[in-house]
This record gives sequence, C-alpha cells and structure tokens, in this order.
Amino acid sequence: MSTTEQRVAIVTGAARGIGAATAVRLAAEGRAVAVLDLDEAACKDTVDTITAAGGRALAVGCDVSDAAQVEAAVERVAAELGAPTVLVNNAGVLRDNLLFKMSDSDWDTVMNVHLRGAFLMARACQKHMVDAGFGRVVNLSSSSALGNRGQVNYSAAKAGLQGFTKTLAIELGKFGITANAVAPGFIATDMTAATAERVGMGFEDFQAAAATQIPVRRVGEPADIANAIAFFTGDAAGFVSGQVMYVAGGPLN
Ligand SMILES: NC(=O)c1ccc[n+]([C@@H]2O[C@H](COP(=O)([O-])OP(=O)(O)OC[C@H]3O[C@@H](n4cnc5c(N)ncnc54)[C@H](O)[C@@H]3O)[C@@H](O)[C@H]2O)c1
Repeated sequence: MSTTEQRVAIVTGAARGIGAATAVRLAAEGRAVAVLDLDEAACKDTVDTITAAGGRALAVGCDVSDAAQVEAAVERVAAELGAPTVLVNNAGVLRDNLLFKMSDSDWDTVMNVHLRGAFLMARACQKHMVDAGFGRVVNLSSSSALGNRGQVNYSAAKAGLQGFTKTLAIELGKFGITANAVAPGFIATDMTAATAERVGMGFEDFQAAAATQIPVRRVGEPADIANAIAFFTGDAAGFVSGQVMYVAGGPLN
C-alpha cells in the first residue's frame, strides 16, 4: 500500500461514546471509517458527523461476539471502503454485580463482547493488514483491569485484553502491525451514566464525586480517549507496540 492511499479504519461500538469520538477523530485525520455497532441505524449520527466534515464513513451493523457477523462485516468494509488496516476494539458492555450475585449470563455476556469480540475482529482484519504490510490494532482496556468491586467479569475481561494485546504485538509485529491498549479511567458516557443510575446517584453528582479522586480534578471526556487512540493508530507510532496506556487523569497502579 502506498502511504498516500487512504487508510481504512474500523471502530467497534462507534454509535456513541468513546467509539463515536474515536471514529470522528480518525476520520479528521484522513481515515475512511467503518462505524460499526449492534444496530446499523444507530450509527447514522456518527456517520453524518464524519460526512458533514467532508470525510468518508460507512455504517455497519454487527454483533462483535458473533463470528459469522464479524466475518461478513469485515468483508463488507473491505468491499465498500477498502481493506481495513486500522482496528479499534471499543465495543463494550457492563453487567456489574458482586460475585455472589453474578449470574452465568452476566459473566458470559461481558466475556463475549470484550474478549471474544476483540479476538474475532482481530482475526478477521489481520489478513488485510498482513497483505498491506501495515496494521494498527488498539484494544480498549480499563482502569478496572487493576481490580474493581462489583466488576469481577469486566475486570477479568479488561485484564485479559492487555494480555491479548501483548500477544498480538509479538505475533504480528513482523508484518508491520502494532497492537496497543488504551485503558481509560472515568469517562463521561452513557456507560458511566448507567452506573450512576444503578447506584442511585444523579450523573452530575456522580461525576463530581469521581473528580475529587482524580489528580487532574475532572472526569474524562470521550475526546481524551480518542486522542490517545489517534496516537497509537498513526503512521508515526510504528515502533510503539504491546503497550498499555492508562488515560485516567493521573497514575494508576
Ligand atoms: N466510560 C468509561 O468510563 C470507560 C472506562 C474504561 C473503559 N471503557 C471502555 O471503553 C469502551 C467504550 O465505552 P463507552 O463508555 O463509550 O460505552 P457506551 O456504552 O457509551 O458505548 C458502547 C457501545 O458499544 C456497543 N456495543 C455493545 N455491545 C456490542 C456488540 N456485541 N457488538 C457491537 N457493538 C456493541 C453499544 O451498542 C454502544 O454503542 C468500552 O469497551 C468500555 O468498556 C469505558
């Protein structure tokens, strides 16, 4: 692939939140972007934002945990936009509960969307990246990978994504492909709004309480994460691979 050719990115879970901000950001950098989410119609706002700014985007309906849907979606992107060589595994769900109350389906749903979804998407996209001799994979981990009460499923999946990322980096590096993880702290999206509702707090109060615990004294915005993802997906980041970047307004350990 010549470096002047437009690179094609797939962002999963891009109908809203961090995924939508990332899709818009990558398009602003000149990528053609597949805006992938469960419901194709729900991708319209993100696609319209990109096209209104003069970019190229395609709405793709797909459940990332379903192998047949993933294969079909990636082939559709390749046919309609071009070979996908940038992949952002962002789709995610929460099924929070303390261990003794967590159901089998709470566990399986979170594993299937985050871990199986990232695996299926990466496996379907890697052949296009290998053929191009170029690829960028970014997986969304979380500060919860370090452990978080009520999230035994989610923290295990997000820690798992860090191991997945490092192994992708080792296996795919020789093909010009990098893999990195971005691990956000508290970001104001529908996901954290739903958590506020679940614990019986107004979203404004919930954010204000979280901000007191964050060194920069504010919660994050989707654009904070999109900025980090844009760095890892850039042509200039070719020697940065297998890393986990916490983007949380302060250090975490
Ligand atoms: N918001 C935060 O504070 C935060 C913190 C750390 C990590 N993250 C991670 O960042 C990512 C984005 O989070 P967000 O806050 O924007 O969430 P969000 O709930 O606002 O958006 C998630 C999107 O993923 C889509 N999705 C869910 N299941 C899917 C599936 N099976 N197939 C395709 N799409 C699917 C949803 O439809 C939704 O549009 C997630 O992986 C999340 O775990 C978020």
